[in-house]
Amino acid sequence: MHVKRLGYSLFVSAMLILPQAMGQARAQDADLQLHVPENLIESGFTKHLLPRFRFKTRVRIGAVSGGEAADMALTDVAVPGEIAVMSDVSGKAYHLSITATDDAKLKNIGKFKAWLSSKPGRSAITKFKINGKQAFIPGEEKKIEEVAIEVDGDADEGSKLALQHCGRCHVIDERNLFGGIGSTPSFGAMKTLPNWFERFSVFWTINPHPSFTQVEGITEPFNPARPPHIAPVMLTVEEVEAITAFVVKLPVKDLGADVEMR
Ligand code: HEC
Repeated sequence: MHVKRLGYSLFVSAMLILPQAMGQARAQDADLQLHVPENLIESGFTKHLLPRFRFKTRVRIGAVSGGEAADMALTDVAVPGEIAVMSDVSGKAYHLSITATDDAKLKNIGKFKAWLSSKPGRSAITKFKINGKQAFIPGEEKKIEEVAIEVDGDADEGSKLALQHCGRCHVIDERNLFGGIGSTPSFGAMKTLPNWFERFSVFWTINPHPSFTQVEGITEPFNPARPPHIAPVMLTVEEVEAITAFVVKLPVKDLGADVEMR
């Protein structure tokens, strides 16, 4: 093969891989497309918000901007009859405008709307930071039914993954009762916390995990200036789902009245 040809095909494959690496091409495998102003993608807001919704409901929403077609839009233009989902710190409000018409999509959009105004959705909006500062304020809280948790990961696979990756620091179950690191909470103890599902679904965002954990297509690569100081935990979204499905089945530890979480 001619060197020139090879160079060209390398260039073409780089062009094909690049958008994927930037998390854009993933929008195509989504159940729903959400159109947003570009700044919500660039700031990392959609990457922060949408996986949290996905882990709760299994519904995958891809973010698009510019002229791309979508099923709904988060827009800073007021939508008659729709209350604001959130506003930014300058007071600019964002509304959800729905363009989809088919029933399956509308059902999932309904879940998304409900989640955005529920406690976990509002907390996801509140926790997003730009340069260490809160960037958005959630809209009005609506009393709605809890958005049902749907877990369809492979619990058996999750059991192996949890022991392999998490068992290095956490006691998982009887398989590593005397393993784990003393000060690290056991999985059974963490299940006694009321919001344990939220915590497990986004554990990679909670310290100390970000410094050594990568979830493919969701987390940013490690900072080359600060590589992980221990063997990294590299997972796919399906593997995180599998671990969560395993945790769902784990018995809650009976901590007794005077025993701490750890
Ligand atoms: C290198 C050690 C280490 C590994 C590996 C590790 N964790 Fe942790 N994890 C910790 C420590 C330490 C804490 C306690 C942090 C605290 O209390 O501030 C913690 C806390 C947690 C929490 C509770 C977070 C909260 O809301 O406070 C969850 C959930 C969790 N880990 C899940 C996992 C899962 C799932 C894995 C495997 C994929 C894993 N961890 C792997 C060290 C680790």
